[in-house]
Amino acid sequence: MANTVLVGAQWGDEGKGKIIDFLTETADIVVRSQGGNNAGHTVITGDRKYVLHLIPSGILRPNKQCVIGNGVVLDPVSLVEEIEGLRAVGIEVGSNLMISDCAHLVMPYHRALDAAKELAKGKLKIGTTGRGIGPTYGDKVARTGLRLADLMQPEIFCQKLATRVEEANAQLVAMGAQPVSFEEIKEASLAAAEKLRPHVVNTVLYLHKALQAKKELLFEGAQGTFLDIDHGTYPYVTSSNTTAGGAATGSGVPPHRIDSVLGVMKAYTTRVGEGPFPTENAVISDMLHGMGREFGATTGRARRCGWFDAVSTRYAAMVNGIDEIAITNLDGLDTLDVIQVCVGYKLDGEEIEVPPSDYQRLSACQPVYIELPGWNTPTDACKKFEELPKNAQSYALKIAELTGGKLTIVSVGAHRDQTILL
Ligand code: GDP
Ligand code: IMO
Ligand code: MG
Repeated sequence: MANTVLVGAQWGDEGKGKIIDFLTETADIVVRSQGGNNAGHTVITGDRKYVLHLIPSGILRPNKQCVIGNGVVLDPVSLVEEIEGLRAVGIEVGSNLMISDCAHLVMPYHRALDAAKELAKGKLKIGTTGRGIGPTYGDKVARTGLRLADLMQPEIFCQKLATRVEEANAQLVAMGAQPVSFEEIKEASLAAAEKLRPHVVNTVLYLHKALQAKKELLFEGAQGTFLDIDHGTYPYVTSSNTTAGGAATGSGVPPHRIDSVLGVMKAYTTRVGEGPFPTENAVISDMLHGMGREFGATTGRARRCGWFDAVSTRYAAMVNGIDEIAITNLDGLDTLDVIQVCVGYKLDGEEIEVPPSDYQRLSACQPVYIELPGWNTPTDACKKFEELPKNAQSYALKIAELTGGKLTIVSVGAHRDQTILL
């Protein structure tokens, strides 16, 4: 039984939701271990499109267990909305969804602080999703957070909430922002609490029993390697460990029970929000946007696009321990005659081995490109690797080779059946 961690190897939106959905067919349990509803994971089945934010993408398949682990931050009101949205389209959300009582709560004052801080940063803003993620993880680390276990005990929750609202309001007012209402938050949170209660358990215990029973776990990473709080392009990152190690701390599953790490990467690169992006390219951005592609699943923002960056994916392979590679959106390059791939960075005239740790030097890096021939043929109907045009096969194999890892999946469209297993 292989327990697999799936991570994004770039800046998020690599197509993780689609690959998770594909792999869930053979897994037993899908686990989210970090991030919150800043994530937007798209899955298309038949003629229906789902965008999942907090609930593991495994929920779309019957008889699969889904776990929201301790490392996730969740907004109880929007989680209830997500659950009800799925039920409204006939997806069962009952005992198949378990939520850790240690997950931290995103409260409206976190969202208000997220917005106020972004505004105060002016040109240096991060370009967050506005979901209150940074302030919530900030409270967690400062040991002033509220957890789902608190929300399950209304009296304790209200006591703690009163203090937090007072502190947050002082900060909001000092920043020139509107204060939030204790009463409104209390009412909305307690109403959501009752709807969430049946799902709230000690997920660590559940997962350990599942391991004993030899169930197969699939960890659904959110965001991507270069949005990781430690390994990403700090401070233009999210506030959790998006890399493979986060799966263990964020779920309570011991690291040695993880058997493999699958890195998902687009055949090109995208990034949404601010921050350095060495291979960003206006021509490829315009081409993809012109095809109606690369608009954010959570915020609708146009994603910045660029060439495939093997320097950064090689680093991602190292940090995550990527053994297997899934390449998505290969079809996005179908109309090109020549494709560029970044194989090195030059900084101050010298070639460097890994991306510099600080964003100023990373921003100053000049990508070194090689050119690979395009295939100028649609690939979206290909069902087998051998059916892909020869140049498309070579391209996929080359970027896997440059990254370092075994190419196991190639995705040529957003639908479940547009997935090639090698
Ligand atoms: P995630 O956050 O990593 O799950 O990725 P998103 O769902 O935010 O963004 C990926 C986008 O690419 C979504 O619109 C997917 O439906 C789409 N997608 C995923 N794989 C492919 C692919 O191979 N080809 C095409 N055309 N679209 C894809
Ligand atoms: P999925 O799981 C792409 C980006 C934001 C911003 C930075 C910080 O769909 O791949 P935050 O709201 O987390 O404080 O924003 O991180 N970001 C994502 N970009 N995909 C995501 O998730 C993202 N989640 C956060 O755009 O640059
Ligand atoms: Mg996304």
